[in-house]
Amino acid sequence: MDNILLAKTGIVDLHSIKKYTAHGGYGALKKALSMPPENVASIVTESGLRGRGGAGFPAGMKWKFLPADRTKIRHLICNADEGEPGTFKDRQIMEFDPHLLIEGMTIAAYAIGALHGFIYIRGEYDWIAKVLVRAIKEAEDNGYSGTNILGSGFQFCIDVFRGAGSYICGEETSLMESIEGKAGRPRLKPPFPATAGLYCEPTVIHNVSTLAFIPFIIENGPDAFRAFGKPRSYGTNLFGICGHVNKPGIYEYPLGTQLRKLIYEVAGGVRDGKRLKAVIPGGLSAPILRADEIDVDMDFESLVSAGSIFGTGGIIVLDEDVSIPFVAQKTAKFYAHESCGQCTPCREGTNMIKFFIDRLVAGKGTSTDIDQILRLCRYIKGSTICALGDAAAMSLETMVKKFRGEFEALLKKEQP
Ligand SMILES: Cc1cc2nc3c(=O)[nH]c(=O)nc-3n(C[C@H](O)[C@H](O)[C@H](O)COP(=O)(O)O)c2cc1C
Ligand code: SF4
Repeated sequence: MDNILLAKTGIVDLHSIKKYTAHGGYGALKKALSMPPENVASIVTESGLRGRGGAGFPAGMKWKFLPADRTKIRHLICNADEGEPGTFKDRQIMEFDPHLLIEGMTIAAYAIGALHGFIYIRGEYDWIAKVLVRAIKEAEDNGYSGTNILGSGFQFCIDVFRGAGSYICGEETSLMESIEGKAGRPRLKPPFPATAGLYCEPTVIHNVSTLAFIPFIIENGPDAFRAFGKPRSYGTNLFGICGHVNKPGIYEYPLGTQLRKLIYEVAGGVRDGKRLKAVIPGGLSAPILRADEIDVDMDFESLVSAGSIFGTGGIIVLDEDVSIPFVAQKTAKFYAHESCGQCTPCREGTNMIKFFIDRLVAGKGTSTDIDQILRLCRYIKGSTICALGDAAAMSLETMVKKFRGEFEALLKKEQP
C-alpha cells in the first residue's frame, strides 16, 4: 500500500502529542516556520495538491485568489462536515491522527497569513470533536499552536465549531453562514470566499484530507508528493469503500488506482460471491457506474470522462440483488430532505422527483412518470445557487437513464 496520510497507522495512541512528536510530528511545522510564508505557499502550489472535498480545485491556486494585502484579517476553515452518504474518510484522520490535521492547518495558516481558524465538524461526530479539542489544547500547551508558535512570533489559534448535522452546511458558504450564527444557506457566488468569506473577510476553506497532506509536502518536498498518482491528479487518496464488499473500510491508494482493483483486490470483492451490479464512485453525488464501467482510473479527469465525478472518493458498491429504483428512492428522499429551500428548482424539483419515484416504487406509477423525472433533472441542472441541486439531478438522472428497464418494469407490474 502507498501511504501518506495513513503512514503512521498502527502506532498506539498516535492521537496524543507525545506519540505524535516521538514519530516526527510537528517537524514539518518547524521547517515551514523557518521559511518565508510565500515559499511555503509555493511548495504547496508546486506539489499540485487538489482539494479532496469534492471539486478537486488546486489548493495553491485557491490561496492565490486572496487579496494581496497581507495586513488585512484572513481566516482558515477546515471543513469537517462530512455529511454525504458514502463518505467517511475524514473521521479516520481526526479520530486517530488529530495532530496531523492541526499541523497541516497551522502550516496552511502560516502560508496564507491567517491568525485564526475553525474546524467545522458535523454534530454526529461528537466524540471526534472532543478528540480534536483535547489535541488542540495539547498543541497549545506544547507551543505548536496559539501565540508565538515555536518562538517564531507567528500566532494561530484553532476553534472547533460543531454543526447540527445538516448536509448543506458542508457547502462552503453555508458553512460560513452557520458559523456566523445564521441558518446554513449557501450564498450566491461570486464573491468567492477568498475575497468575501467568513464575516465577509478573505477566507480559505479546505477539506480535512487536503490540509492533512500539507505536512508531508513540506517535509518531503513537492516532488515526493507528485511521485504518487498521475499527472493532474497527484498524491494519494483515502478511499472509503462501503456497501456489498467483503472488506469495507478506509484504504489509502494513489489517485489513478483502478476502480476494479479497489473493489476486487483491496476491498476483497463482492460479498457472498455475488455479481456486481453498479458502483457509486465518489459519494452519493457521483453519477452511478454500471458493472461494465469499472475499468476506470480513480482520478479527477478519468471519472469525468467516464460520465461520473471523483467527488469525495467514497465508493458505494451495489450487488446484483439491489433494486436501482429503491436506491433512487433513498437518494431522492435524501436530497429532498437536505435541500435548504432557497432555489425553486431544487426545492420543488427534488420533492417532485421523490413523489414520482415513490409512486413508481409503490406500483402506482403512470407511463409518463419516468420522463417527468428526467425532465425535472434537466430543469434543476445549472439553475441553482449551489451544487446540491446539480448533485441531486446528476445522480438521479443517471440512475434512471442507465437502469431505465428497472423503472419500466415497475410500471408493467401494475399494467397488464
Ligand atoms: C451540498 C454540499 C455539501 C458539501 N459537503 C462538504 C463536506 O462535508 N466536506 C467538504 O470538505 N466539502 C464539502 N463540500 C465542498 C465544499 O463546498 C468545498 O468545496 C470544500 O470544502 C473545499 O475544500 P477543498 O478545497 O479541500 O476540496 C460540499 C459541497 C456541497 C455543494
Ligand atoms: S441548490 Fe438547493 S440546497 Fe443549494 S441553495 Fe439552492 S435550494 Fe439550497
